[in-house]
Amino acid sequence: MTTPHSDALVFFGATGDLAYKKIFPALQSMIKRGHLGAPVIGVAKAGWNLDQFRARALDSLEKHGGVDPAAFEKLNSLLRYVDGDYADSATFEALRKEINVAQRPAHYLAIPPALFGSVVEKLAHSGCHTNARVIVEKPFGDDLDSARKLNQILLGAFDETAIFRIDHYLGKRPVRSILVFRFANAFAEAFWNRHYIESVQITMAEDFGIQGRGAFYDGTGTIRDVIQNHLFQVLCNLAMEPPVRTDSESIRDEKVKVLKAIAPIEAKDVVRGQFRGYRKERGVAADSRTETFAALRLEVNSWRWKGVPFYIRAGKCLPLTSTEVVGRFRKPPSVIRESALSPNYLRFRINPEVHIALGMNVMSQGEQMIGELSEMLASHHPRADEMDAYERVLGDAMAGDPTLFAREDYVEEAWRIVDPVLNNATPVYEYDANTWGPDEVEKRVTPAGGWQNPTVIGREAVGGVSTAA
Ligand code: BG6
Repeated sequence: MTTPHSDALVFFGATGDLAYKKIFPALQSMIKRGHLGAPVIGVAKAGWNLDQFRARALDSLEKHGGVDPAAFEKLNSLLRYVDGDYADSATFEALRKEINVAQRPAHYLAIPPALFGSVVEKLAHSGCHTNARVIVEKPFGDDLDSARKLNQILLGAFDETAIFRIDHYLGKRPVRSILVFRFANAFAEAFWNRHYIESVQITMAEDFGIQGRGAFYDGTGTIRDVIQNHLFQVLCNLAMEPPVRTDSESIRDEKVKVLKAIAPIEAKDVVRGQFRGYRKERGVAADSRTETFAALRLEVNSWRWKGVPFYIRAGKCLPLTSTEVVGRFRKPPSVIRESALSPNYLRFRINPEVHIALGMNVMSQGEQMIGELSEMLASHHPRADEMDAYERVLGDAMAGDPTLFAREDYVEEAWRIVDPVLNNATPVYEYDANTWGPDEVEKRVTPAGGWQNPTVIGREAVGGVSTAA
């Protein structure tokens, strides 16, 4: 059965930051690829008219990726604009008129979660929800309870098959390529389990702060901003079993099983940090205890992974920007002096470069049987026309393909895991910008053998062999 394509994109929050940085560039790329020909109706309360909205689109493209004259002309012709308060029924009456003859609109809520409820209610009341899809931005709620309530509200107006909960990390090619590496290589199955892997670490480091998003960030913090969603998605791709079929539900079932196998995190398994200077940022409370860094340990109690700790850490103002996974192997019973051996590892770099590397011991220079760490590296050079994550997820939502979206049970399981350590349930330790977080991490939440910090490309390969992929 083919799913009908949405024939209008309504986007709430059209004058906001996300639209400016990510959505207009994604729309232009969709047009260039011939993937978008439907009207795009921006909705916001800015006191603007259509010309001002078009000028904003142009400005966005000039600052983020560049203007393609032909694609922009087309985008301009597709843009519509409705100005009004989200609490006002008249806004939705005006929207109803703009939607006009479209039969299957997709409503994209790029707005703060606190507004989701009333917008959904008004969409339903005005009839704009008929045959429609709804695309919801993260964060989806701010704990288990609020996520459940939000799900109830959405399910009151839309069927689960029409709800697309965005996590743009799922649209990133390298995140999806973890699954290809695991399930398209027979040798990977042999070692990617508790028999050979001693620990897995996932690091998302950013060398910048909160970039003027104080008001949002201070009510959110690292665990809600990137761990409960982006990094749990990475974790699921690393830990899930091969799906029995390749349809969206079989894949999403396997991800949910990973989360179900994880116990709620305990305070002893978390270290939260805050970079010095954070409390002086605009929009941040002077006595804020919100974390800008978090490191945590958890276990996936499945047949494959029982007993293998997974470590996740993420933070702002760290020494560099990189998202990386390291699976560290158990040491072999060796004929070579064991203390002279480094553990083998498999490393996936997701951002900013994309590569897969294998750390191994080889015989060092000279005649002695001494091992030396060497890294074999396969790097992927993204093509200039490769899809950006937002282009991919918006395109998939309009095409009705739910594979890259979080299902209701998934988001609730993810919140269940982090719920006990939200809301300042654990202390927050200060750290200096340009370091790997507070000292407390080394004392309490560190894999055997230590964290393997991502390094700037070119410095990380130890005698690396580079293979173009
Ligand atoms: C967003 C977070 O969801 O993801 C940001 O709110 C974070 O704090 C960003 O910086 C990272 O995503 P990307 O795609 O820019 O690496």
